[in-house]
Amino acid sequence: MYTLKEPLEGRGNQLFIDGVSAKSLAEKFDTPLYVISETGIRRNFQRLQNALKQHYEKVKIFYAAKANSNLAVLKILESEGANIDTVSPGEVLLALTSGFTPDRIIFTGTSVRNDELKFLSDSNVIVNIDSLSQLNRLLKIAVPKILSVRVNPEVGAGHHSHVITAGKHTKFGLWEKDALTAYKVAKQAGVKKFGIHMHIGSGILDVKPFVSALGRFLEIARKIHEQTGVDFEFVDVGGGIGVPYKPEDKEIDLQEYAEKVLSLFKDKTNQYGLGEPYFCVEPGRFIVADASVLLTTVNTVKITPYRKFIGVDAGFNTLVRPAMYGSYHHIIVANKADARVEEKYDVVGPICESGDLLAKDRPLPKIDEGDLLAILNAGAYGFAMSSQYNARPRAAEVLVKKGKHKLVREREQLDDLMSSQQISAEWEQ
Ligand code: LLP
Repeated sequence: MYTLKEPLEGRGNQLFIDGVSAKSLAEKFDTPLYVISETGIRRNFQRLQNALKQHYEKVKIFYAAKANSNLAVLKILESEGANIDTVSPGEVLLALTSGFTPDRIIFTGTSVRNDELKFLSDSNVIVNIDSLSQLNRLLKIAVPKILSVRVNPEVGAGHHSHVITAGKHTKFGLWEKDALTAYKVAKQAGVKKFGIHMHIGSGILDVKPFVSALGRFLEIARKIHEQTGVDFEFVDVGGGIGVPYKPEDKEIDLQEYAEKVLSLFKDKTNQYGLGEPYFCVEPGRFIVADASVLLTTVNTVKITPYRKFIGVDAGFNTLVRPAMYGSYHHIIVANKADARVEEKYDVVGPICESGDLLAKDRPLPKIDEGDLLAILNAGAYGFAMSSQYNARPRAAEVLVKKGKHKLVREREQLDDLMSSQQISAEWEQ
């Protein structure tokens, strides 16, 4: 049987999330409903911070807002002392609104427009440039106080080809030669403080790719330092720490990650004369994934000659990861938390595509209409990637903490589907 981990707990046949019953939340707020545990987020942040700080004092964690940018989530992390990684003016605005000062915000966008560069420059956030074009266009607007360059360490990794962001065929980062040019140009333009950045991919459960990318990354940093005289205030190794989704997945060994990555970091920064820069990481998934579940109600049980379908009210409009990456999300029957597995079902949503599958051939207890399913590890790239496809309003989000609950995003209403549209009956002359 699947062992529930904090903040989840079975009390008899009922699932509780951070001390609150899933059933009571579904009754009060309806489904589909994202339930986010504050305790879970704080625990994840602190675990990572403690593991890293055991090996190096100057550590900064930049939470990758793209994983879950609910203001309540951002505020929790702000109060933990996190910094924040953003990719759009929208995320910068959300970060500022939740109390992050500009010096705690880094922007790592790609394919960035000029008006966005102007917004970033006016906001005084740290810009991490992704192309020479972006640098030249930024310098025409203003010379930033501090600048970082995303380099391609030529080693990528990730749970799916869509999320590998370094290596030969990626659109991200600057290759060594261009990175050298970027620092020279920025220095000549008057930039005084610098950082350097990489991000190799997402959903990585093995420490090896982080270590091999870091080795190459620091060699590039060395060349930049030697050839341009640039010193680095910070070295940002990006995000990517994975979480177990399948029952058989092994958690990444945080102690091993911290020990291997930071001992290489300390050795090489020392050997290459890079001083003592801040060591920065940008986890998204690791901080929020297992702190949240998606609750969805079974409305249809449909048995065909070939398949047993469970029709629920969440589809790939609510959680796209299974459809988009073939991702596995474990499912618990929240009102039969102690029941034995009896059947294999396909769990499907209300979207009119056969790819609208949350789980295939999934062993579950016998399901009845009205049952409440909890889709686990839904906190990262869950709500954040949801849509209104098939004209379905987006789900609500509720925050739970030690037996208490608070609505942190209202469910969209049918009116929201129409609020920004106009019916154009006639063309104006
Ligand atoms: N930093 C940068 C520059 C990134 O592009 C990303 C993620 C992160 C940090 C955070 O990565 P994490 O620690 O969460 O792995 N939608 C996909 C994941 C896309 C990740 C994109 N970049 C999924 O659901 O698996």
